[in-house]
Amino acid sequence: MSVQLPGLLEDLELVRKDFPILGRTLADGHPLVYLDSANTSQKPQVVIDTMVDHLERHNANVSRAVHQLGGESTEAFEAARDKVAAFIHAPSRDEVVFTKNATEALNLLANTMAWPGELQVGPGDEVLITEMEHHSNIVPWQLLTERTGATLRWFGLTDDGRLDLSNIDELVNERTKVVSLVWVSNMLGTVNPVREIADRAHQVGASVIVDASQAVPQMPVDVVASGADFLVFTGHKVVGPTGIGVLWGRRDLLGKLPPFHGGGEMIRTVTMERSTYADIPARFEAGTPPIVEAVGLGAAVDYLGHLGMADVRAHEEAITGYLLEGLATVGGLSIMGPTTVSDRGGAVAFELDEVHPHDVAQLLDSRGIAVRAGHHCAKPAHRRFGVQSSVRVSTYLYTTPEEIDALVEGLEYTKKYFRVD
Ligand code: ALA
Repeated sequence: MSVQLPGLLEDLELVRKDFPILGRTLADGHPLVYLDSANTSQKPQVVIDTMVDHLERHNANVSRAVHQLGGESTEAFEAARDKVAAFIHAPSRDEVVFTKNATEALNLLANTMAWPGELQVGPGDEVLITEMEHHSNIVPWQLLTERTGATLRWFGLTDDGRLDLSNIDELVNERTKVVSLVWVSNMLGTVNPVREIADRAHQVGASVIVDASQAVPQMPVDVVASGADFLVFTGHKVVGPTGIGVLWGRRDLLGKLPPFHGGGEMIRTVTMERSTYADIPARFEAGTPPIVEAVGLGAAVDYLGHLGMADVRAHEEAITGYLLEGLATVGGLSIMGPTTVSDRGGAVAFELDEVHPHDVAQLLDSRGIAVRAGHHCAKPAHRRFGVQSSVRVSTYLYTTPEEIDALVEGLEYTKKYFRVD
């Protein structure tokens, strides 16, 4: 690498070799420049190998089979729970519930909070979210409030893409039952002050839910220090596989939620008349779980742990700073969200004057550069900035300065192609 930035992961070339896909050449001989990691991250060989090994040598259902393979599979599955708990500093492994993804984890919360129980949200209660949420942290709360007669409220955004907290004392009040917010925005890149908001919410007795789908991949996360009562993330953005997500919840609060899906393994006993339910986490893991996906997630968080999340964060800041500097040289390009690295993650959304985001993405793709174009499942945030869609570049621990240079050249090429001065 010719460009040296303080903060970049040492031995970045060696790290990149862990990710076989990064060695790919695309159409017309262009090397892959993968700048879509907020969408899904690439996977290191150790995750792929661990999953293949499980399928080749240990495959069996978990918690149901008395044979040796069943024991091995259960051990690997539960070891993954231990690894995830340690990675997010959960006080107890029982507080880690495996779900299909972050969306399912949020729906689990929004559904079970609609039903009778100590955390029930009812008529007159308020649920508070933000205008920068992913649809997965908006729609479940719309459904909950529509179904229960509760009211949905939200923090607005400032022009520089941060939460507008000027009316926090009015928004967080004695009617507020739930505050559910994103830690790191998947569109604007903003890192929100979750601890500050959680402390305020707790003063009025509200439960705090944090969507950490973009935070857990990029920064060290300590669930207790975050102030969250519940925190969700997805496996495929933390160099793990798709099909596995995590719901962490404080033991006392998870224990107060009624069951979500009914089925095998979530019960204590079943008669034809009624059932009683297992303790957490099994109570929320009905049916055969995503076994090999959990095992892959365990390998993924081990991999990140070995790299060191403080170093991953330093890399993210360095490469995002370089990206922001590069984008600032492209005339006619406007960034939505913070334009400096302070309290900012690696996703940067922008518009290029007179060129549709899909055209930008297509032109970049013709040079081997993968970015996302569209609304990134954050339509309200786009509307706030008066646009329908944007181009989004997202970096990760394997992103190099040369890839950012290629992007900037690609954007200049796009402008020439569309004859934009
Ligand atoms: N939530 C993912 C993204 O932001 C899919 O691209």
